[in-house]
Amino acid sequence: MKNINPSHTSAWKSLQTHFESMKYVQIIDLFAQDPERFSSFSANFANQILVDYSKNRITSKTITLLLALATECGVSNAIAAMFNGDKINHTEDRAVLHVALRNRSNTPIYLEGQDVMADVNAVLTKMKHFSERLISGEWKGYTGRTIIDIVNIGIGGSDLGPYMVTEALRPYKNHLKMHYVSNVDGTHIAETLKCLDPATTFFLVASKTFTTQETMTNARSARDWFLQTAVDQKYVTCHFAALSTNAKAVAEFGIDPENMFEFWDWVGGRYSLWSAIGLSISLSLGFDNFEKLLSGAHAMDHHFLKTPLNNNLPVLLALIGIWYNNFYGMETEAILPYDQYMHRFAAYLQQGNMESNGKYVDREGHTVRYQTGPIIWGEPGTNGQHAFYQLIHQGTKIVPCDFIAPAISHNPITDHHVKLLSNFFAQTEALAFGKSRAVVDHEFCTAGKSPDQVRHVAPFNVFEGNRPTNSILLREITPYSLGALIAMYEHKIFTQGVIFNIYTFDQWGVELGKQLADHILPELTQDNIIDTHDSSTNGLINQYKSWRH
Ligand code: F6P
Repeated sequence: MKNINPSHTSAWKSLQTHFESMKYVQIIDLFAQDPERFSSFSANFANQILVDYSKNRITSKTITLLLALATECGVSNAIAAMFNGDKINHTEDRAVLHVALRNRSNTPIYLEGQDVMADVNAVLTKMKHFSERLISGEWKGYTGRTIIDIVNIGIGGSDLGPYMVTEALRPYKNHLKMHYVSNVDGTHIAETLKCLDPATTFFLVASKTFTTQETMTNARSARDWFLQTAVDQKYVTCHFAALSTNAKAVAEFGIDPENMFEFWDWVGGRYSLWSAIGLSISLSLGFDNFEKLLSGAHAMDHHFLKTPLNNNLPVLLALIGIWYNNFYGMETEAILPYDQYMHRFAAYLQQGNMESNGKYVDREGHTVRYQTGPIIWGEPGTNGQHAFYQLIHQGTKIVPCDFIAPAISHNPITDHHVKLLSNFFAQTEALAFGKSRAVVDHEFCTAGKSPDQVRHVAPFNVFEGNRPTNSILLREITPYSLGALIAMYEHKIFTQGVIFNIYTFDQWGVELGKQLADHILPELTQDNIIDTHDSSTNGLINQYKSWRH
């Protein structure tokens, strides 16, 4: 991929000039000027996902200039490089081929001259057979009983993706009870194991590296718990599987190589739910639904690879994000799914986006002088409305939001879903168009308030509006549409990383904390006073030690 400082491109300069003419433009006026605005700034993906980006502070000129930026920064070549298996994760000398994991067309994808699809398909077949045996009850635990509970032990990408998907697709769930343990805080595993029976529990140790402190600590505790009852080490085989790239460490842990589901270093942790890391998805929903998830993602991959930039959904969403992040200086993006099943979606995208693009060093090793990835956060609607929307509507910070909702509910009881959706539609309308002082005055007068009362309360009831949103309306949340939605965000993140001129697929920023924790760990078990750190860290450690005793 080319090294291009985006802020030195001519498109960036044109965007800066354009921003001067746009910074006071109101969304309400843009709609007044163009009655066709919705059709100009929305797109429908496979009759499954409608993306409406019309309620943004953009004109067709903004989009043209942003597309010029994408072109100047080599986005098309970068997309091709990823699908070609080029080592675009340069700092780790790795290709980035999560698209191969869901390549349902099965066309060859080459890595150093070798088609990776045979390996991908072999693992998928193994996952299918294993899932079928476990779901049907053919797979027996050490006492001959069938498995009831599955515990996925993993953290980061080895937890957030599979957990988010199994929750989002709960309506497709079978009888197996899923549990996800991630935190090294002993509370997490202790509370999970409390109600489980070792004879009917199966553990998936999910770790790309099989060295992650949290996961290996939890996995050892799970094995100890299991052996307290099962006693004989040989029974580990019927109750533990590993999802990993590290066969040696898996064998050392005592998991049967037959129970290892492999993936490869060209799958990034936060892009791994499509790999063996997705085994808990396949167990929970059945392999056919896991395949549909892959198919939805594959359809979005095809769209991303083949569609010209001006109609390319991940690219357009990426560019609108850059417009706010780099020109308006808006620092965060909220992800607001109006679907209770999607309650982990924002947390999942937080890792996807912030671990990928939270970087200040560019692809030449220089400190950037422009903003890179935004802060991602969010909660499901309508809960968020009663918590933090006040700031989104009337705060001094502008938060671009993605509103996501299904048209068809999996739980169509009484009028819940129309009420949910009325809120979904109302919020973006309120955010974009607000409520003027004239309307507020009129409402209060009509309600019989005196002119004095109106003067007193009216300012607090004005909504200035002009708050940007994307509305993403899915026909229904199915394995297919969810796969496409996730892939759309993955490619949005990649496109932004290309333009920011950073390496999206490494994560060196997580290492220092791990290193220091390794250094501190033995100090916590010694009795002496610690004086090897700064005074704050020494003070905290010594207080901890004195309270512990
Ligand atoms: O510490 C960050 C990280 O490396 C993530 O990128 C990854 O998803 C997570 O830890 C878990 O890593 P592993 O799957 O190797 O246990």
